[in-house]
Amino acid sequence: MSQYPRLMSPLKIKGVNLPNRIVFPAVVNNYATKDGEVADRLIHFHKRIAENQVGLTIAGATAVSPEGRFSFYSAMIYDDRFIPGLSKLFSSIREAGSVPAIQIGHTGRQTSSKIVGGLKKVGPSSIPCPLWRGEVRELAGNEVEDLEDAFAEAALRAKKAGARMVELHGAHGYLIHQFLSPLSNQRKDHYGGSLKDRARFVVNILKKSRGKVGEDFPLLVRISADEFLEGGLHLEDAQEIARILEENGAAGIDVSGSVASNMADSDEKIHQGVYLRLAKGIKESVNIPVICVGKILDLDRAERALEEGCADLVAICRALIADPEFVSKSLRGEKDQIVPCIECNKCLSFNAENPHMECSVNSSL
Ligand SMILES: Cc1cc2nc3c(=O)[nH]c(=O)nc-3n(C[C@H](O)[C@H](O)[C@H](O)COP(=O)(O)O)c2cc1C
Ligand code: SF4
Repeated sequence: MSQYPRLMSPLKIKGVNLPNRIVFPAVVNNYATKDGEVADRLIHFHKRIAENQVGLTIAGATAVSPEGRFSFYSAMIYDDRFIPGLSKLFSSIREAGSVPAIQIGHTGRQTSSKIVGGLKKVGPSSIPCPLWRGEVRELAGNEVEDLEDAFAEAALRAKKAGARMVELHGAHGYLIHQFLSPLSNQRKDHYGGSLKDRARFVVNILKKSRGKVGEDFPLLVRISADEFLEGGLHLEDAQEIARILEENGAAGIDVSGSVASNMADSDEKIHQGVYLRLAKGIKESVNIPVICVGKILDLDRAERALEEGCADLVAICRALIADPEFVSKSLRGEKDQIVPCIECNKCLSFNAENPHMECSVNSSL
């Protein structure tokens, strides 16, 4: 029997069979082209990780609209012309033995005009982001509906390109999250007010996407289960949000935390076990699968997270950037061969001058 019986057991989410519970979560690495098309480097990056026994690979975050781009060379999915490149990416992940998925999203106020080619930043309300600053234009009601449609079209494009699941980026302070949070959504129409009204945007996206991709295609939602901000969303709100998402057809909840302006503190919280506790809190409030995340640096910890009821799947990000063979080496009992992540966060420090993701311990990216 496997040393990691829970982690290595298969899981079916709607019509999709996952070979195990290990997830490589969404990463913006700036390995796409300037125009947002998939480039060979992006394919190579995912293939290396996918071929080492990672059950689910979520590419991301990809923008559903040009003014919602995540970074200078991040991939995009707002037009059919992105389908052929995405198709190559998903085939390569599938051939490597992992189930291909993609995170789709929109940055809302958390971007810069440089990244979005001079386009104006938009949000639920005209409240500037404390980190990204700059003026934000409040979306008109019909524009919000157009963006719901853009998400649904993007989900369909992902399916056409061969993704087996789509994850909506509702975490980390991006547009869906901005609608959910009372700190960034002070709208007076039916998209603002109570939590149920603030959730209308994501619920409509789920419904419209479902209409396009069909019943059996899993739509996951990533949420920040605590914003760690006074007056913001906390676990009890996130539990209510998770229940609303489940009622409206979400096939799973991927639990993260924080927003861009306090993301720098998140590692400390992760080390304190806060992120796993948040996932457990969400798992207790829904019946659909839950993904947890947060500095899982060895598979024993991942197995224990499942054993402790924190989640049904475990996402491992930086440990796999540092050593794409992290999982397979662990499974072969070659832990001493793993190149460990040294927790320096160089991978997160790209900018206009040095846009492509680099890792201090992995020069083969
Ligand atoms: C370079 C980098 C880019 C990331 N991009 C995204 C993203 O596009 N979408 C997202 O939801 N999370 C993103 N994250 C967060 C990861 O998915 C993950 O939640 C986080 O790194 C914590 O997991 P870890 O401690 O195993 O690294 C990114 C993380 C890193 C390091
Ligand atoms: S750059 Fe640093 S934090 Fe990021 S994966 Fe590499 S070693 Fe880990």
